[in-house]
Amino acid sequence: MCGIVSYIGPKQAYPLLINGLKRLEYRGYDSSGIALINNDGLCVYKSKGKIADLEENVKNKNIEGTIGIAHTRWATHGEPNNVNAHPHFNETMDLALVHNGIIENYDTLKVMLKKNGYHFQTETDSEVLVQLIDFMRKKPRTNLLKAVQLALASVVGAYAIVLLDKNNPNQLIAARKSSPLVIGIGDNEYFVGSDATPFLDFTKKVIYVGDEEVVVIPRRGDIMITTLDNTKVDPIVQHIEMDITALEKGGFDHFMLKEIYEQPESIMDTMRGRINVEDCYLQLGGIMDYKEKLINAKRIIIVACGTSWHAGLLGEYLIENLARIPVEVEYASEFRYRNAPIFADDIVIAISQSGETADTLAAIELAKKKGATVLGICNVVGSSIARATNAGSYTHAGQEIGVASTKAFTSQVTLLILMSLMIADGKGILEKNQKKALIQELMRIPEKIRKVLEKAPEIQRMSEVFTFARNFLYLGRAYNYPVAMEGALKLKEISYIHAEGYPSAEMKHGPIALIDKETPVVFIATTPSNHQKNISNIQEIKARQGRVISIILEGDEEIKRLSDFYIEIPDTEEEFTPLISVVPLQLIAYYIAVARKCNVDQPRNLAKSVTVE
Ligand code: M6R
Repeated sequence: MCGIVSYIGPKQAYPLLINGLKRLEYRGYDSSGIALINNDGLCVYKSKGKIADLEENVKNKNIEGTIGIAHTRWATHGEPNNVNAHPHFNETMDLALVHNGIIENYDTLKVMLKKNGYHFQTETDSEVLVQLIDFMRKKPRTNLLKAVQLALASVVGAYAIVLLDKNNPNQLIAARKSSPLVIGIGDNEYFVGSDATPFLDFTKKVIYVGDEEVVVIPRRGDIMITTLDNTKVDPIVQHIEMDITALEKGGFDHFMLKEIYEQPESIMDTMRGRINVEDCYLQLGGIMDYKEKLINAKRIIIVACGTSWHAGLLGEYLIENLARIPVEVEYASEFRYRNAPIFADDIVIAISQSGETADTLAAIELAKKKGATVLGICNVVGSSIARATNAGSYTHAGQEIGVASTKAFTSQVTLLILMSLMIADGKGILEKNQKKALIQELMRIPEKIRKVLEKAPEIQRMSEVFTFARNFLYLGRAYNYPVAMEGALKLKEISYIHAEGYPSAEMKHGPIALIDKETPVVFIATTPSNHQKNISNIQEIKARQGRVISIILEGDEEIKRLSDFYIEIPDTEEEFTPLISVVPLQLIAYYIAVARKCNVDQPRNLAKSVTVE
């Protein structure tokens, strides 16, 4: 969702900015733009569509300049077109601004500015912000820094901004609130990004800009950080560990496919250093200080969105089943507004791949305000959620670029398994043998996933049969119910086919009305404890001419006979089954989307990190 990259230094800015924008493509966008200062003054180029369209647009134009700001926009206010794309500028066209986030009171501010003689070219909230900075600048004794501080102090909402001043080509000004912004410190040069990916080739030395902080970035010398009321803040320089090769497709057609195939390794990475089979040792370092609190918790509340919410639902099944603590799973977006009772002895676990999801962040703030302990499960190191929580554990799944989450999901579930086992162990619920057997089996999961991945050609052939289906139903029981929802979400996200995930037994309470020979039903039937019930459900579907694609345990001849198509997966402990059963569903969604010629890695309307409400 919206990406920012900016540069100031000795090099030509344009190629760095364009490559940086390409690195941010994974976030999802519908237009892009760039502003540079050169002999022609302030040059702003914007294009609807892909970055390639922007590159086409600037052909034969002046793209010189060693300072510049660039942006990929994901439309919130005003349709995606050349005018609404960023950068936006003030009326005299000497200030240019890129903005991520939403200015909630932009309407009121716009009315005030219009009364003061300002005119607007776009429908965006971001143009209001740059005009507001211009307005503030006209106050007596107000330089640009103060104007930015004053403007941001009157804004309600979220922002990450970078500002370029035509009359000062030796300085950028950046600021943020509730929307991520990171500064890269290179060799006599600075970068700014909504994350570090645009400038990883040049530096791994970064400063994460704090909430309501304004940063003056000079061409030479040190940056200066202040709060909105002009109090100086000491910059904290950090080193990030991010592998640049992880950003490449590594021979796969799409990032999503690469990430599906990475799951055996990413799951191992989630477990690495946290379990020791020989000594039956199991520890999550990041939350050690809260282990006792977790063991004695009366209630755990999990907050998350989308795929992370599905992992959270599995967290409920796991923690309740293994560790016997009541768990509630909340959509972060609902939790923040529905005035739920939250108590100081509650433990809230926030799950997020990106660590930047606005709704999840807001739910965390609310829980903290009520005195609850908030723990995070995040993938992106140093992300806003990782920093906002009291403590947490990283999933270490590696960078996930495909908008549709795959390896992040299985790593989140792995971490929730580890957490459940750790609590259960701490409570003395698990016998030593039982614990050892579970840990040993968990270590076998990556190999079992590899066996499923070997079936990809077969899954592709089967998926292509359903290229033109209009509706899909996904059904699963117990641990496979969240998996059914996750499979349905994957399909609708990337193939634009309508799909619903339901608990199998709920079928007869409504969805059964949808079943006919045109509606494929993906039935996840890998839980032996419900075998007979699964058979009955499949028979009910067949009796209504439904076409059944079943996910079954190897050698389940009974369900095989009943199914139109089946995919066999290796057996495991029921608690771990989602880690394996979700893989064929990811592949089904992927191959159907490819057959429908959809943009798998950047599906329409979606963004990788949803930093607005
Ligand atoms: O980064 P997060 O895990 O907080 O993101 C939450 C959702 O936006 C995300 O899972 C979304 O549903 C994905 N597109 C799923 O594939």
